[in-house]
Amino acid sequence: MIQPSVITSYQDKQVSPFPKDLDPLRMPDHIAVIMDGNGRWAKARGLPRTVGHTAGVEALKTTLRLCSDWGIGALTVYAFSTENWSRPGEEVSFLMTLFERVLQKELITLKSKQVKINFLGDLEPLPISLKALIRESVKSTSCNKGIHLNICTNYGGRRELVLAAQRLAERSVKGEIEPSLIDEQVFAAELFTASEVDPDLLIRTSGESRISNFLLWQLAYAEIHITEVLWPDFDEIALKKALVDYQSRGRRFGGV
Ligand code: FPP
Repeated sequence: MIQPSVITSYQDKQVSPFPKDLDPLRMPDHIAVIMDGNGRWAKARGLPRTVGHTAGVEALKTTLRLCSDWGIGALTVYAFSTENWSRPGEEVSFLMTLFERVLQKELITLKSKQVKINFLGDLEPLPISLKALIRESVKSTSCNKGIHLNICTNYGGRRELVLAAQRLAERSVKGEIEPSLIDEQVFAAELFTASEVDPDLLIRTSGESRISNFLLWQLAYAEIHITEVLWPDFDEIALKKALVDYQSRGRRFGGV
């Protein structure tokens, strides 16, 4: 198996000052990101796709630090979809090892920065050692008061909806809940994102204009920003552009 190359730390960089071209009162509470283009980024440099994923970790750390510095409440990222198992076995095991290595390396810093980590998805099929580390990361940061970092792993929007429907049906059969009382709030409470507000902004990198089975329920009213930037190149300038674009939108939530 290819080993992830050296990963730098989510270290104590200077706090990034709040950008002058943004209105602090109109920042999104929650940003969701489809981190796409790692493979193309690597291919363009004649490197293996896995190098793109390692570079993608750096972009994630930068984005997390900036979102935290600029007062955004939650960052939810699509790290591994239910469909990603169909990639070559070597790439899948590289990604699993990468997640583990990054968590191991960053947990102390993330804790000290008050980041609250959560993993959303069906975690059962993940390697045992990764599952143990995920449990530790979630537990040891559960009381943190800073930004929420939600990492969607073996996540699929349709699967999430089916699981929620199954759980509600089971509760109904047991007589715990009256079907007519199942409303949007009750349904949303069964999703992986139960404790989170819906994303205000979805960013997708690498120019693709698809939702790709990501947060199908939660993105109902999100503003969508698509950028040609490949994920490993996503930096402060790209994030600022996404936020300026977000703040230029008139959000009506179906009203006028
Ligand atoms: C999509 O690019 C990217 C992924 C499937 C993996 C994303 C994972 C990371 C950035 C690492 C995150 C690390 C942690 C610890 C959460 P692609 O491979 O589909 O790129 P392509 O479309 O150019 O082929």
